[in-house]
Amino acid sequence: MKDFIFDVSTRILFGRDQMKNLASEIKKYGSRVLLSYGGGSIKRSGLYDEIIKILEENNIFYKELSGIEPNPRVESAREGVKIIRENDLDFILAVGGGSVIDLSKLVAGAVYLDCDPWDIVIKKAKIERALPIGTILTLSATGSEMDRGGVITNPETTQKLGFGSEYTLPKFSILNPELTYTVNAKHTAAGIADIMSHTMENYFTLGDGAYMQNRLAEGILKTCIHYGPIAMKEPENYEARANIMWASSWAINGLLSTGKATGWSVHAMEHELSAFYDITHGIGLAILTPRFLNHILNDDTVDMIRDFGINVFGIKASEDKFNDAKKAIAQLHIFFEDDMNIPMTLGEVGIDDKKLEAMAEAAARHAGGSIRGVVELKKEDVLEIYKASL
Ligand code: NZQ
Ligand code: ZN
Repeated sequence: MKDFIFDVSTRILFGRDQMKNLASEIKKYGSRVLLSYGGGSIKRSGLYDEIIKILEENNIFYKELSGIEPNPRVESAREGVKIIRENDLDFILAVGGGSVIDLSKLVAGAVYLDCDPWDIVIKKAKIERALPIGTILTLSATGSEMDRGGVITNPETTQKLGFGSEYTLPKFSILNPELTYTVNAKHTAAGIADIMSHTMENYFTLGDGAYMQNRLAEGILKTCIHYGPIAMKEPENYEARANIMWASSWAINGLLSTGKATGWSVHAMEHELSAFYDITHGIGLAILTPRFLNHILNDDTVDMIRDFGINVFGIKASEDKFNDAKKAIAQLHIFFEDDMNIPMTLGEVGIDDKKLEAMAEAAARHAGGSIRGVVELKKEDVLEIYKASL
């Protein structure tokens, strides 16, 4: 196991009855709030009214940044920075899914820099300090509620890129599973696929001796496989929504990657699908993952993939370990397709073969020439994986 520092100080307020703590949590950090949210789901659910009431009752000044898009655009960050500067705000309350939280992190850092927010994403500028952020999570998926990173889209350059800073880790996150009851089937499934993908990106590594981390990863995967279908059938099943929500935070907050060299290969390939076609992140991951595993199956990786099948899906070990590994990959595909109702080809989400070459080139370029995960993926490998997913 490699050396590591693990430091995730986000205070988690989990459960049905945590809004009573919202005002006191905010007041630890500020008194003039930017309330950021998406396209209106929080208004339909009544959450917006509840928050406004709390802010007003507690004399907390606020301004709003609304309409943050899924696959959030850098333009919204520019707007957020402007609102903060004009109103001298000192805290960001991000209410929504990963898109709202990610965008808010960029705003929090950009406000202290004399540059365009996009410069941070393309690493021309570095976040040195940030406004404190609190989140109220409404969709279990990205883990942005308990990690440092964000992913931002620039439609002008057809790029979707990640950024991160120690300063953008949320100070607190309110996780009420009931707030996810209204998430529709498509985004519930996409969220579960995203949680599983984060877990697998951390899990599929070789020779690092991180035994404990891998058993924890298997536990998170089993949690998703057990509760995912329940949440799909019974959107208001608290136990299912609660387990999935807690899994989302721990899949990507750094615990599973401690002591490991992880490559995030599938995410690198998916971000190009989202950048070029604006598809839902988790759906893209579900489509690519079984094809990625098939592509990297070789003498070095066969035991790793077979163990995944045995420990996560309960596949019975046979003499033929390649066959066992293939069974594991097939089980994952079937889970996404049958239990999660995810369209499992690129064609079904409106992607044909026209831009595969350009996306493969961009995926390799953005990773610095090739994607260096458990198996190195050159542009040609990415292209093959895209083609196998058509
Ligand atoms: O905008 P509103 O109206 O709120 O609707 C959203 C949006 O349309 C809706 N929604 C959210 N909560 C809801 C709800 N609808 C009904 N009831 C609720 N309670 O769901 C839609 C999708 O929301 P979004 O925030 O885009 O989804 P998600 O949380 O999956 O975030 C996806 C983004 O996060 C990035 C992805 O690339 C993508 O841009 N990621 C961020 C990561 C991170 N910060 O660490 C890591 C991930 O790998 C990922 O890349
Ligand atoms: Zn993801």
